[in-house]
Amino acid sequence: MASRTEKPLSDVIEQRRDTPSFDGVPIPDADLKKILEAGLKMPSGYNLQPWRFVVVRSPELRRRLRVASYNQANVEEASVVIVACGDKDGWRTDMEEMIHMGRERGMTENYAESARATIPEFLGSHPNLSAWLNRHVTLAFTAMMLMAEALGYDTACTEGFEADKVCEALNLPISYEVVAMLDIGHLKGPDKYNGGRFSMARTVFEGEYGKPIKL
Ligand SMILES: Cc1cc2nc3c(=O)[nH]c(=O)nc-3n(C[C@H](O)[C@H](O)[C@H](O)COP(=O)(O)O)c2cc1C
Repeated sequence: MASRTEKPLSDVIEQRRDTPSFDGVPIPDADLKKILEAGLKMPSGYNLQPWRFVVVRSPELRRRLRVASYNQANVEEASVVIVACGDKDGWRTDMEEMIHMGRERGMTENYAESARATIPEFLGSHPNLSAWLNRHVTLAFTAMMLMAEALGYDTACTEGFEADKVCEALNLPISYEVVAMLDIGHLKGPDKYNGGRFSMARTVFEGEYGKPIKL
């Protein structure tokens, strides 16, 4: 089968809008796999990959996610909802596997030994594990969103949900934190307006706070 052209990243970034409504037509497994893989290839601290994703395609579960999301229709209408989570306890079991993979690919024994000492110290007493999880999950989530858009799909992000209801609907372990949902499909009806962005002069500084970068 001929591979289709992917949208260039700069077009994806320019043209992406948060999708108000989807037509619900299923997306092929090969595309879903590519979208998921894009997220799983993202970097993470110590390569610990604390993200976990639950892919929701069944209409019944999408309906339950809509209920858990303050009745936001696009959650149910999407072809796929990727529920992005972080696992607070993942590192406890994943550390050795991460080291094993690394050792097979060039990680030194010295690094491995130091990781075995510093990771439990760092994460075992981390003052804000939720923030640590969120930054990693969001990186992977963003890569999935951009890949979906590059493949020609439309996406929406959802943070408006009741986490306990999402956990219950998906039977998530207690150590999971739900970070956001990525709704993927094809736009139905008109696209959302472009709300614009603050100027670079307002949000980017050079060298010190308050000194706008000049480019
Ligand atoms: C992490 C995240 C969560 C969001 N959650 C919701 C949501 O629950 N409901 C909603 O209507 N829009 C949600 N949005 C969409 C934003 O309102 C939208 O991205 C923003 O207004 C900018 O519009 P644009 O994405 O079309 O550029 C979310 C966006 C992000 C990035």
